[in-house]
Amino acid sequence: MRKLLIVGIGAGDPDHMTVQAIRALNRADVVFLPDKGEEKAALRHLREEICARFIEKPCKTVTVETPQRAPAASDYRGVVDDWHARIAENYERLFRAELAEGQHGALLVWGDPALYDSTLRIVERVRASGLALDWEVIPGISSVQVLAARHRIALNRIGEPVMITTGRKLAAGFPAGQDSVVVMLDGEQAFARIAPGDLDIYWGAYLGTPDEILIAGRLADVAGEIEQVRAQARQRHGWIMDTYLLRRREA
Ligand SMILES: C[S@@+](CC[C@H](N)C(=O)[O-])C[C@H]1O[C@@H](n2cnc3c(N)ncnc32)[C@H](O)[C@@H]1O
Repeated sequence: MRKLLIVGIGAGDPDHMTVQAIRALNRADVVFLPDKGEEKAALRHLREEICARFIEKPCKTVTVETPQRAPAASDYRGVVDDWHARIAENYERLFRAELAEGQHGALLVWGDPALYDSTLRIVERVRASGLALDWEVIPGISSVQVLAARHRIALNRIGEPVMITTGRKLAAGFPAGQDSVVVMLDGEQAFARIAPGDLDIYWGAYLGTPDEILIAGRLADVAGEIEQVRAQARQRHGWIMDTYLLRRREA
């Protein structure tokens, strides 16, 4: 049977690689490197740097072209489902062609594979399509952990929950009944569209990389500054990844 090692590689700094992740890469016969086009070239370079730095034996690398996702109109789930189906077909073809029976393949997943990443769902699809496949998941340091560490904050208040959500969901308003909300995948700066009320924001972009930017303060005071800094950085680099914690002030 073919076996996949689904390895969390951390969120931007090669030093995020855990000992377990490094060992997993060194067990792989083939490393599959996703290529999401020019926009994410910087992310591909980090994956290549990780392979060059940590893999100590000869190892085949295979580039995986990621199909473009159709623009999400009203049927967001349908569009994503179709996109995942095409990615799964692509992976199945590559696994059959590039990975022999009994070999180990590694998939390098940004941050942690369990958090807002589709790799595990896609691998389930590949197995469901009939390819005999086993896999192991190696956790990684997520961007959320790096955000908290860089701002030197705990994500939760004592004994209280933390919600992790998307910019798309936040756009409908700050979730009722929550006081600590982490927002990922926010291409539309939803933080600047909601009522700032008594919220603080802890924002981070390019976390873990030499280009990291951190801004924190009352949302009402810093939302405009974050929008401006974000737009400038995005233009300079051609891409941006940012995440933030919104937290109600204690009375
Ligand atoms: C597809 S999700 C992947 C999350 C990843 N699995 C993790 O554990 O962080 C991509 C989102 O993660 C966040 N993100 C990932 N890396 C980041 C970084 N270095 N700095 C800031 N945000 C990051 C952004 O919100 C981005 O839109």
